[in-house]
Amino acid sequence: MEKPSWASDDLDIERPSPARVYDYYLGGSHNFVVDRRMARQAIDLWPELPLIMQANRAFLRRSVRYLVRQGITQFLDIGSGIPTEGNVHEVAQAASPQSRVVYVDIDPVAVAHSRAMLPGNSRADIIQADLRDVAAIFNDPRTRRLLDLGQPIGVLMVAMLHFVPDEADPASIIARYRKMMVPGSYLVVSHATHEGSPDQAGPHTELYRRAGAPLIMRSRLEVEALFDGFDLVSPGVVFLPLWRPDSPADVDDHPERFAAFAAVGRRE
Ligand SMILES: C[S@@+](CC[C@H](N)C(=O)[O-])C[C@H]1O[C@@H](n2cnc3c(N)ncnc32)[C@H](O)[C@@H]1O
Repeated sequence: MEKPSWASDDLDIERPSPARVYDYYLGGSHNFVVDRRMARQAIDLWPELPLIMQANRAFLRRSVRYLVRQGITQFLDIGSGIPTEGNVHEVAQAASPQSRVVYVDIDPVAVAHSRAMLPGNSRADIIQADLRDVAAIFNDPRTRRLLDLGQPIGVLMVAMLHFVPDEADPASIIARYRKMMVPGSYLVVSHATHEGSPDQAGPHTELYRRAGAPLIMRSRLEVEALFDGFDLVSPGVVFLPLWRPDSPADVDDHPERFAAFAAVGRRE
């Protein structure tokens, strides 16, 4: 298959990428044959996946509006993904026009398309980096220009920590972010779980492993443990639709079907 003209050298179109597969689940067009093939296999195994991803995006938007209501107007969105409807800077700037956003993603397609949507927005930028490169992210001139680290920030790790294996010790990575966040800052997390849909979770995890993009589902207790040093905002770690829904009518009769936990913590 031909690489598109805008492709960077590190773009691999022979292997599915989590960012592009997720883009397909959400109805986007920034994906390649390998991604579509894998996404269709995943949806065959678990037909609710597109709905789950939409619920994840809805949680992301609610959490950003919540943070703006708490006075947060600067955001670091790690594992930000390929742009889609209701991107963080759009939601935050609609709620508070002065809001500033630094996007970070490891995936070259996510970075290229984010960059393409941002010209003209002097209050948002994108960095290509691995979330583990904490110092590089905080020292990057774009972060320095857009975020005042002497003031509280919102750090988003939405639907991304399940791509961080236990060996990489996600809790210790978060602890390094926490050190850079002054008290009053917030951490937003959503995270895939096997709790609620164990029958689908097993084959789904296996599909990602075989595709070379391992995905680690974690329990409620494991997700709670990621918030060491943060006060969990009510209602705590809950299935996606249960995190401060805009209306009770938005909550499905079986929220556990949404197979991911959502939580927001305030830096102590
Ligand atoms: C499922 S998408 C989530 C996108 C967005 N946060 C959302 O919830 O809609 C996961 C994103 O995390 C990115 N990602 C995975 N591992 C990463 C890492 N080690 N460092 C930075 N980004 C990573 C992927 O490239 C992908 O864009």
